[in-house]
Amino acid sequence: MRWAKPIDIPAFTEIEELCFAYPWSAAEFKAHMKFRGCVSMAAEVDGKVIGYLIYQLSPSRISICNLAVAPEFQRHGYGRQMIEWLKRKLTGRTGRRLVTADLRERNVCGCIFFRAVGFRCVNIFHGFYDETDESAYHFHFKVKPNPNAALTVPTSEDLIPEVEVESDGQ
Ligand SMILES: CC(C)(COP(=O)(O)OP(=O)(O)OC[C@H]1O[C@@H](n2cnc3c(N)ncnc32)[C@H](O)[C@@H]1OP(=O)(O)O)[C@@H](O)C(=O)NCCC(=O)NCCS
Repeated sequence: MRWAKPIDIPAFTEIEELCFAYPWSAAEFKAHMKFRGCVSMAAEVDGKVIGYLIYQLSPSRISICNLAVAPEFQRHGYGRQMIEWLKRKLTGRTGRRLVTADLRERNVCGCIFFRAVGFRCVNIFHGFYDETDESAYHFHFKVKPNPNAALTVPTSEDLIPEVEVESDGQ
């Protein structure tokens, strides 16, 4: 995994259009890359962009804005690796204990995936989307509070990704 750059946007939009009924445009990816508090990560295998993870940081939580793996690379564990990488951001130092994701109700595979990686659907939001009548399934992954968290202060390291998604050769 590495920080995404504007040069990745064509690869992102290509994957996005293959993965979603209502894909983000290049302008939406660009806006999220620019938005302070938003982090855009690219997942690469052998130098090729095969997926991305875009999330927003707030004091108490990490909200997943977008996550996809190119169809030909799905079911090889890359999505799970991206989520595991994100879960490692939930440290006592930052005080963040929650990752959230909103899934369209028709995205059954996405919902199964989030359940498989330890999330639980905790709410259903009706009328969540402008373009369809679908509801959103609101998923949570939570860690227990760290009693020592108050003794430490967040550092810039808490915002800097340091782990690479490994190719498992499948
Ligand atoms: C959801 C998504 C990111 C998962 O990525 P992935 O790399 O294929 O997922 P993984 O291979 O790590 O799967 C982990 C587990 O999730 C479950 N899972 C993932 N995709 C599944 C599917 N299509 N059907 C059933 N279970 C699935 C399985 O339990 C899987 O473990 P297994 O392969 O050992 O059985 C990918 O399918 C995708 O990009 N989908 C389209 C975009 C999307 O829906 N994004 C999520 C909403 S933002």
